[in-house]
Amino acid sequence: MTAKTIDGKAAAAELRKRVAKQVSELRANYDVQPGLAAILVGDDPASQVYIRNKERQTEEVGMASVGRRLPAETSEGALLSIIEELNHDPTVHGILVQLPLPKQIKSEAVISAISAEKDVDGFHPMNVAALSNGKDGLVPCTPMGCAMLLKDQIGDLTGKEALIIGRSNIVGKPMAQLLLAENCTVTIAHSRTRDLDQKCRNADIVVAAVGIPKLVKGDWIKPGATLIDVGINRVSKNDGTTSYRLVGDIDYEEAVQAAGAITPVPGGVGPMTIACLLQNTLAACKRQTILRD
Ligand code: GUN
Repeated sequence: MTAKTIDGKAAAAELRKRVAKQVSELRANYDVQPGLAAILVGDDPASQVYIRNKERQTEEVGMASVGRRLPAETSEGALLSIIEELNHDPTVHGILVQLPLPKQIKSEAVISAISAEKDVDGFHPMNVAALSNGKDGLVPCTPMGCAMLLKDQIGDLTGKEALIIGRSNIVGKPMAQLLLAENCTVTIAHSRTRDLDQKCRNADIVVAAVGIPKLVKGDWIKPGATLIDVGINRVSKNDGTTSYRLVGDIDYEEAVQAAGAITPVPGGVGPMTIACLLQNTLAACKRQTILRD
């Protein structure tokens, strides 16, 4: 059997279309335009690409994009002042600080300083608590996108054995909370996990988010399983040049032979992350304006 390829690009385009329609209704009916502020400190090339894509797609769905580029030597205090200003700006409904930050800035302090209701990344301790307590809040974008793809693919996830490989605050931990809320039986594996291959063979769902190229092998896959690959790893093409290609944490060529469905890298989870960020910005805007009591 050859697995179905899950088209994250198409799913993200659909989601952006739905968001754009709601943005246009919000503007027409309430004269409110959602605004997203994206802050980049330093000039990391990968972060520059992410931020540019976020800003472009923000504008494409009819939202206002506020970009702030700060030099790498920016102090924590200076960044906190900018966040404070944006927290009080009524035209800004979502604030995002691109990670990682330069060494002199503590990301925890920065994340906690963002108003929880504008925290469209879902990293603020209040949003983390809301997710773990099953309350309304803003949910981290990458795991939200993964959960959407899984539900599109499988439907009801109740009773499924889900293996999450990776325990980061950005993906692994919130992914576990989302799948628990969908009634999956969840296992979180990480670098110290023993017998990872056995755990994988038992899983109906695998979400791989560890950043190890092609870690998950084809003979680890339960036949028919649904595989979500969050990894984006640069590996050399080994063709004597400096060029590279992107591979995931799952060995796609092997796994595609056994799985029921699998996300490709690139073109799987990646596009869903920004689409979910736009969805969060829309939700945050509604809560701060038309749903405010
Ligand atoms: N860096 C890598 N992923 C993310 C993300 O989802 N949000 C932010 N703010 N920075 C990141």
